[in-house]
Amino acid sequence: MSFVPSSILVTGGAGFIGSNFIHSFMAGNPDCTVINLDCLTYAGNLKNLVGVEQSLRYRFVKGDIGDAALVAGLLENERVDAVVHFAAESHVDRSITGPEIFVRTNVLGTQILLEESRKHWQSGRVSDFRYLQISTDEVYGSLGETGFFTEETPLTANSPYSASKAGADLLVRAYHETFGMPTLNTRCSNNYGPYHFPEKLIPLLIHNIINRKPLPVYGDGLNVRDWLHVRDHGAAVETVLKKAVPGSVYNIGGNNEWRNIDIVNLVCDLLDERLQRAAGENRTLITFVKDRLGHDRRYAIDASKLKQDLGWSPAYTFEQGIAETIDWYLANQEWVTEVTSGSYREYYQQQYGGGAR
Ligand code: NAD
Ligand code: DAU
Repeated sequence: MSFVPSSILVTGGAGFIGSNFIHSFMAGNPDCTVINLDCLTYAGNLKNLVGVEQSLRYRFVKGDIGDAALVAGLLENERVDAVVHFAAESHVDRSITGPEIFVRTNVLGTQILLEESRKHWQSGRVSDFRYLQISTDEVYGSLGETGFFTEETPLTANSPYSASKAGADLLVRAYHETFGMPTLNTRCSNNYGPYHFPEKLIPLLIHNIINRKPLPVYGDGLNVRDWLHVRDHGAAVETVLKKAVPGSVYNIGGNNEWRNIDIVNLVCDLLDERLQRAAGENRTLITFVKDRLGHDRRYAIDASKLKQDLGWSPAYTFEQGIAETIDWYLANQEWVTEVTSGSYREYYQQQYGGGAR
């Protein structure tokens, strides 16, 4: 049995993963309306949505998930039957220097979205309803040399970012257990791909290599992350939304573990070729720097439940995905310049008037 949404509220759809999701979801679901609620923090960029924003099935609303009246009005007026909640503060380093906004957005904002969703679902305005919480493997904490996170792994978040995401996940669970609300929860590994803000490792490396700037590697560079193409993440989310039994939790990942230093070397070498630099030239930019506080050592996702229950598996090989991603950044250097200078905010003013925060 499949759930077929007709009007979906996507939060954080101007960010990296949300915008990629909207592109593919709109292309694959021609009868569904998409409402994108995003308050446009530094990470939100409407230029990520060029190509869908003229569609009559798409609406952008600049606003905060913590604005209960706004959320309630959207759910009712747009007859929303699915909420897919991407909006968050997402960068671990920022959560170490300024945790408060992480709690406000990721915990309190989620609670407000849940509460308004509960009222809307219980009003009976729509015949069926789903609330899907986008979460992260970081809620499980850190692994040693072996083993994988499963959906049964206890939540042992270590950074203020991951603690705020774990708090949100527990609220989602509570709304299902307490009210019987049809919630879903996905926990994905590290994403890479187009529209990735260049504070995160892979786009930062590409940007710095192009500009011959140092490549900061935290600590000994031996921390391990499990990388998945952002479009594979989106496809998995869509699968869970349509096929999963309410109340369930699914890990999302592609069995693709890399030590940071190996990713750095790989990106250096692929860009040596593309920028016609001597073999090994980009590696000379590598600079080991002070480690991130509380730096989780290893993440590795066991996504077999998703594969077995719902038949999802990734479409991209890492070889293909990383090559395409590098090529996308080379072809879209203007996008990177705009997001690093902040000038992309002017685009919002031209399109919608007013100011982005
Ligand atoms: P991002 O930082 O690129 O985008 C976040 C978006 O949320 C931005 O457009 C921002 O403007 C918006 N936003 C922030 N606060 C808001 C608020 N109060 N109201 C409305 N909009 C708000 O993040 P991302 O990397 O695309 O991550 C999206 C989601 O996926 C997050 O929930 C994150 O925890 C989760 N996740 C990310 C990864 C990853 O590798 N990036 C992996 C697993 C899970
Ligand atoms: O695992 C999923 C998570 O992946 C998401 O929940 C987060 O939202 C997302 O930001 C990401 O978190 P990470 O902390 O793993 O990603 P980041 O790109 O910041 O760092 C990846 C690894 O690279 C990590 O071990 C830290 C290291 N690093 C990062 C940066 C920015 C460096 O060595 N140098 C850097 O300059």
